[in-house]
Amino acid sequence: MTLLEVKHLRTYFQTSRGLYRAVDDTSFDLDHGEALGLVGESGCGKTTCALSIVRLLPKEGKIHGGEIFLEGTDLVNLSDEEIRSRRWKDISIIFQGSMNALNPVMKVGDQIAEAIVLHEKISKQEALARAGELFELVEMPVDRINNYPHEFSGGMKQRVMIAIALACKPKLVIGDEPTTALDVMVQAQILNLLEKLRKELNMGLILITHDLSILAETCDRIAVMYAGKIVEFGPVEEVFGNTAHPYTERLIACFPHIGKEKIIPPSIEGIPPNLLEPISGCPFYPRCHKAIPLCAIQEPEMEKVGEKHFVSCHRIREG
Ligand SMILES: Nc1ncnc2c1ncn2[C@@H]1O[C@H](COP(=O)(O)OP(=O)(O)OP(=O)(O)O)[C@@H](O)[C@H]1O
Ligand SMILES: [Mg+2]
Repeated sequence: MTLLEVKHLRTYFQTSRGLYRAVDDTSFDLDHGEALGLVGESGCGKTTCALSIVRLLPKEGKIHGGEIFLEGTDLVNLSDEEIRSRRWKDISIIFQGSMNALNPVMKVGDQIAEAIVLHEKISKQEALARAGELFELVEMPVDRINNYPHEFSGGMKQRVMIAIALACKPKLVIGDEPTTALDVMVQAQILNLLEKLRKELNMGLILITHDLSILAETCDRIAVMYAGKIVEFGPVEEVFGNTAHPYTERLIACFPHIGKEKIIPPSIEGIPPNLLEPISGCPFYPRCHKAIPLCAIQEPEMEKVGEKHFVSCHRIREG
């Protein structure tokens, strides 16, 4: 059975200016043990998508349509209590600033144990022993378990957050820019660690990052998001090697390449559409270097262009 199936998800924010369609008809799926990269410009809806899955949206955000199946159970319809019992146990999320969520006046081992006791019927003593094992798992010296958060570096704290996220061996972990605040060396260590753990524990991983080289290295499949929609979805080597959507082409062109002359990469001209207004046609049309008149009036449907490779663009039919 597929681990996760997101179908036609619509998540909107109620704002003083009207309904903001942050995620608008987004569909993708993920298998057990698979890593999916979610990429797209700032504001395209990646975090909103992640928060919809774990049902941690801010109060002005609401799922207006669609389904999110986790091993066949629709998370959208679960009661608050039911989803709470599944968070950490079945799905967990690691944010960019997660490490700042540690309680400064509590020893980290106690914090991990507390998270475990909250979700599993085991004693504090057993939970503390588990916390020790988790420290080993995330390659931290076990004796540091009695330290307070301020005694750790940012990278170590993020490791602790990974330990907490993995405490109940979830089937799905979502990393929303889990390493963005860290230096490249620590970033690499933590990503390698997540990779290792994903394979050992057969967890599904959704990795959100702007770093295309990280996605290319860690992910099996890539979903490219633009203005609340997935515009290209497929195996990593297809999306990066046989790119089908003009937006993906632009994203890749804007990514800095070490060794090339340009230090500051170009950006994609124009701005994403205003999601307070319904969009007619392709959302990328006004910025697209390949647009034709049809793009302005008709929204392209997702079409298959290769083995497990899908794209929504009118130009693909021309080959
Ligand atoms: N609480 C909120 N109220 C109103 N609008 C919101 C709220 N949270 C997010 N949005 C809007 O929804 C859109 C999607 O935001 P989201 O955080 O999902 O983007 P993102 O793809 O994660 O961006 P980034 O790469 O910068 O993290 C943005 O335009 C944002 O302004
Ligand atoms: Mg985000």
